[in-house]
Amino acid sequence: MIFRQLFDSVSCTYSYLLASRRGGEALIIDPVIEKVDRYLQLVRELDVKLVKAVDTHMHADHVTGLGALRDRTQCITVMGEQSKADVVSMRVSEGDKLQIEGVDLDVLYTPGHTDDSYSFVMADRVFTGDTLLIRGTGRTDFQNGDARAQYDSIFNKLLKLPESTFVFPAHDYKGDTVSTIGEERAFNPRLQVKSVDGYVELMNNLKLPNPKMMDVAIPSNMRIGLAQDEVARKGWALSAERALPLVGRHDVKFVDLRERGERQKHGSIPGAVHVAYTDLHESVRPGGVVHGLADAARLVFYCAYGERSAMAVQAARQAGLESTAHIEGGLAAWKQANGPLE
Ligand SMILES: [Fe+2]
Repeated sequence: MIFRQLFDSVSCTYSYLLASRRGGEALIIDPVIEKVDRYLQLVRELDVKLVKAVDTHMHADHVTGLGALRDRTQCITVMGEQSKADVVSMRVSEGDKLQIEGVDLDVLYTPGHTDDSYSFVMADRVFTGDTLLIRGTGRTDFQNGDARAQYDSIFNKLLKLPESTFVFPAHDYKGDTVSTIGEERAFNPRLQVKSVDGYVELMNNLKLPNPKMMDVAIPSNMRIGLAQDEVARKGWALSAERALPLVGRHDVKFVDLRERGERQKHGSIPGAVHVAYTDLHESVRPGGVVHGLADAARLVFYCAYGERSAMAVQAARQAGLESTAHIEGGLAAWKQANGPLE
C-alpha cells in the first residue's frame, strides 16, 4: 500500500494520501488548499490517479483543498451527509464504505467536535479527524459541537476498535504523528474521566480562543461546489423538470455515474445505464461504452448532486460527443421534482 502523511505547518493539519499500488487510484483525506501543488506533485511522482478528496468534517482553521483538487483533477469530493458545504460530489453516512481501487474504508459517524465529523476505518488504522487527537480531543464549543456526542463517539465507537489500531488525526500541535487506540485509552488525559458528565464538564471549561482562520475558513469551506452555471450557460444542463419527460424515450439514454452503494441506497432513474464516473474518460473515447451509446441516443448524465455529471458532460463534449447533457443538481433535484425512481 502507498501511504503518505503530509503536514501543513501553518494550521498543523495532517493530510493523508492512500493508494493500493503505483498506477492505481488514490484518495486524499483532509487536504489543505495551500498544499494542493505539493499533493499533485506527489501524485505524479508516485504515479497514482487521484479519484477522491475527502474531508473528515468542515474545518474552521484552514481552507479545504477539496474544490481546488476537483477543479484540477476532476476527482470526486466527499463529505458526510450533515456537511453544510454547498455541494460535494458524494455524501457518506455511517455504515457506508469509502472505496477506491484496492482500498476500503468503513465510514463511522463520530459527531462531537462538529455535527458533521466522520472517522474512516481500515483494518489496521483509523483516520479520526478532530474527534480523537493524540493525547487530546477536538474542541466542542462551536460548529454545533457537542461534548456529550463526542464522548459517545470516542468511548462507544473509536475505543471499541482493536487496541493496536493506529490513530491518525487531522491535527497535531506538539509534533506527534501517530498513536494507537490502546495508547490513547491509557494516556489521553481527556479520556481519564469517570463519566459522560465528567467529560462534558471538562470540555465546557477549556476556554479556548477561536481559531485565527475561523472567519475566513468556514465561509469559504461552505462554498466549495463546482460552478455548474458555467455548464448551464453553454446549454449542456437540464433541470430535473425538463429531464422528466425524457424517461422512457428510446432516443434518450440516462447515464448514472454514481457508485453501486449510492444507487442501492437512493435508487436510480428507470432505464438508466451505469458507467462509473472514474471510468468516464476511457468510456467517452472511440470504442468506449459511452461513445457507443452516444451513436444511438442522446445522453443525459446524472449523479448525486450534479458535480460528477457536470464534469462528465464537459469530458464528453471534449471527446466530440455533441448530443450530451446533464441533470443540474443530480438525483437530489430529481427527487425534489418527484421524478420516478427504481
Ligand atoms: Fe476541526
